Amino acid sequence: MRLRVVEGALKDELLTTLRSRETPHWLFREALERLGLILIAEALKELKVERVKVKTPVAEGLSGKVVQEVVFIAVLRAGLSLIPPALNLYPKGRIGFMGIYRNEETLEPVAYYKKYPLVKGAKYLLLDPMLATGGTARYCIGELLKRGVPPQDIVFVSVVSAPEGIERLKEFERLTLITASVDERLNDRGYIVPGLGDAGDRFCGTDDAEVIEGYGVQSS
Ligand code: URA
Repeated sequence: MRLRVVEGALKDELLTTLRSRETPHWLFREALERLGLILIAEALKELKVERVKVKTPVAEGLSGKVVQEVVFIAVLRAGLSLIPPALNLYPKGRIGFMGIYRNEETLEPVAYYKKYPLVKGAKYLLLDPMLATGGTARYCIGELLKRGVPPQDIVFVSVVSAPEGIERLKEFERLTLITASVDERLNDRGYIVPGLGDAGDRFCGTDDAEVIEGYGVQSS
């Protein structure tokens, strides 16, 4: 696996906003979207490019044109947050979804929703802000490999990664993992430490929603 940790002043500041428990959901969402732009730009750097002639107002020159299809797959729920920056950067991209939960008895990942296009030769970006145990990530990568997507065309994009999750992805030698931070560890509830909490809840605004007489957060 190729691991690329994106560095920079802007990344640092956006991560601080995301980590802070004081950040309300709308600012969390905005910071996630902006950091997503940085990460996804990194992931798209190696798209196949063709040299084309271009006439500028001054002369004719040679320039680049992307000739590879791109499929963005949001790992539900939190991965939805990275779709807007992905499409801002690359409007021609196609979109898919993978929804996975963990069977609490077997601890195995189970897919409850899968819908994504299979496009020959495309670059596949799996979008999930948190790489924690690596169970969901392995499932999603395995799913694409089973369908014939070559590992070198799969990029896993996460905002914060746990060393435990990274370790579990090492079996995929030609996969690329792009992240903004490798944190310390997982705690005994599977949260990344220091992390940023539950990314899905904070993005959706369901972390601090008040439950009033049966209203509030419903998850069935
Ligand atoms: N998923 C999250 O949203 N946060 C974590 O810390 C781990 C998994």
